[in-house]
Amino acid sequence: MHVLALVTQKGGSGKSTLAVGLAVAAMEHEERVALIEADAQGTISRWKQRRENCFPRVECVADPAEIEPVLSRLQAEGIGLAIIDTAATNNALALRAISNADLCLIPARPSPADIEAAIPTLLAIRRGNRRFAFILNQTPTRGCRLSEAATSLNSLGVLALPFIGQRNDHQDALGVGLGVTEFAPEGKASDEIVGLWRWISEHIFTESNHHGQGAVETAC
Ligand SMILES: Nc1ncnc2c1ncn2[C@@H]1O[C@H](COP(=O)(O)OP(=O)(O)O)[C@@H](O)[C@H]1O
Ligand SMILES: [Mg+2]
Repeated sequence: MHVLALVTQKGGSGKSTLAVGLAVAAMEHEERVALIEADAQGTISRWKQRRENCFPRVECVADPAEIEPVLSRLQAEGIGLAIIDTAATNNALALRAISNADLCLIPARPSPADIEAAIPTLLAIRRGNRRFAFILNQTPTRGCRLSEAATSLNSLGVLALPFIGQRNDHQDALGVGLGVTEFAPEGKASDEIVGLWRWISEHIFTESNHHGQGAVETAC
């Protein structure tokens, strides 16, 4: 089983939105997926309540000590991909998620505040010798802000591709219990999430045995 963790202490950067979008996209690519909600805010469980499809399953964890038993159980049940959504803080639960992840995904909006706020998470990931990649989320369709942010993040580690644009489909999909690829399969938001899932799957499936390498080596 592969484990992804969406982590950064900056609230509103898109951890929960991307966790849901990627979980559904991975399911559509034949993965058996579970979402683990490690955030008392409850964004994922409320999304799940609005959802008619019983997949992906959602597990909630409130205590760091619960993460490993939940992961073991999911693996025993044949889940191939667990995606952990964490809170907007570097708490013990987020740190335990990081230490169990094959790949930590750090979403950041293209703003200095988001990028600076990712640094403590990045340090925790480096201390734990985990692999990671940044995701630029809620990017504007035009302007120099994007390339400045991409340059800053690239200097800190690998940036996953493509960038995820600021698009209403993400918010509307969350509101009706869908992944963005279900909500508007032909839309740009859907395309980008599918592209991001491909990028992630190429990295976890080809390099998942190489724990402890810090960042994935190359951006495509
Ligand atoms: N790419 C995007 N385009 C449009 N809205 C987005 C996008 N990513 C996130 N959002 C919205 O931004 C808000 C914060 O996102 P959320 O995933 O809850 O962040 P976090 O989990 O990091 O706190 C939500 O209202 C969400 O729907
Ligand atoms: Mg959240």
